[in-house]
Amino acid sequence: MKILLLGSGGREHALAWKIAQSPKVEKLYIAPGNAGTNAVGENVNIKATDFEAISAFALKENIEMVVVGPEDPLVEGIYDYFQNRPELKHIAVIGPSANGAQLEGSKEFAKGFMMRHQIPTARYKSITAENLEEGLAFLETLEAPYVLKADGLCAGKGVLILPTLDEAKKELKEMLGGMFGSASATVVIEEFLSGIECSVFVLTDGEHYKVLPVAKDYKRIGEGDKGLNTGGMGSVTPVPFADEEYMEKVRTRIIEPTINGLKEENIVYKGFIFLGLIRVKGEPMVIEYNVRMGDPETESVMLRIQSDLVELLEGTAAGNLDEKTLVMDPRSAGCVILVSGGYPEAYEKGFPISGLEQAAATESIIFHAGTAMKDGQIVTNGGRVIAVCSYGATKEEALAQSYKVADMIDFDKKYFRRDIGFDL
Ligand code: AMP
Ligand code: GLY
Repeated sequence: MKILLLGSGGREHALAWKIAQSPKVEKLYIAPGNAGTNAVGENVNIKATDFEAISAFALKENIEMVVVGPEDPLVEGIYDYFQNRPELKHIAVIGPSANGAQLEGSKEFAKGFMMRHQIPTARYKSITAENLEEGLAFLETLEAPYVLKADGLCAGKGVLILPTLDEAKKELKEMLGGMFGSASATVVIEEFLSGIECSVFVLTDGEHYKVLPVAKDYKRIGEGDKGLNTGGMGSVTPVPFADEEYMEKVRTRIIEPTINGLKEENIVYKGFIFLGLIRVKGEPMVIEYNVRMGDPETESVMLRIQSDLVELLEGTAAGNLDEKTLVMDPRSAGCVILVSGGYPEAYEKGFPISGLEQAAATESIIFHAGTAMKDGQIVTNGGRVIAVCSYGATKEEALAQSYKVADMIDFDKKYFRRDIGFDL
């Protein structure tokens, strides 16, 4: 079959790498992709949100399945775009309908959904300029620190955690006043939860589901989880505390109520659900939903899926995911992200990357995140540049291997965290 994968990051290179291993794949295109995806498929210069160009390309090339990497096309309704056009309807789109994508596209919707289906999450109040007073009063009932979340998509920047009540009140007003444009016209104020987080990925056809390997990502730029939030500096899988007992709670209290809730609300959902969970006194609670795979978790998670991912995706589209098998690799996987110096603030691009061939000759698997080809040379083209991923009998072994290879790859102002997995 011919598959079109949308997106251009490390997540998409990892998905492309896994999809390309399937004997079912006749041709894999990635739009727009990066300098790494071109080695496992063929890049197409189309933006992941340009539905017109995507659908024209899909028809021209007889694409049978579109796999959506990032959230924007989903929130903008790519599933419905294909479903609502007779000439495109036969093409499977892996991802939720626009209604389902609201789980990530609107924090207010996600919180309301969890309330309706008794899914454990932090106490909250949803605030607009109209009920600001209620918001200020709700903040008074909470203890520090204070969590403010812009309702809409903010490329991972819409969550503020504030140490004092005064700052929380001030920032709430600023958010409502347009700090994140229309995305923060509504703000969700949440009780702060204290605990350890993990990322649980579920693949669902709307009826049945499979739980993919559980991972943990490291979002802060600095070692010891200090400093600014980034897209993610590394990941590991499995996560020791997400043991059988914990995962049983996750299945019965979170995954099944989520899938049943979607069904009850007639929300079409055939794709990945990413549960951002926090363990509070041993119990799982939902910090957030995302409607796609995580980045950089996918880079580790794909290493641990032994089954044919394309078969699983076919089952997702056809509604017979229960007939497909998911076999996981018992080994650990660890991923270290090499970033451009300065990231997540201002940084430069266009630096030549050396050592990639040497790295490719090791046991590690190298995924490109922000890279491009310039005059026959691979250069940096983003904040997160390269994901170095490895297997190991333990997470320590996997990470040690990734660190060995991280030192072989170089570019001007390269930076990475040396403590991925430190808290497990
Ligand atoms: P989100 O974009 O919702 O994933 O939030 C970004 C990060 O903020 C999460 O990964 C958590 O580390 C943190 N966070 C969000 N909500 C809460 C909360 N209610 N309590 C504690 N930390 C939170
Ligand atoms: N790694 C977190 C995310 O993809 O949102």
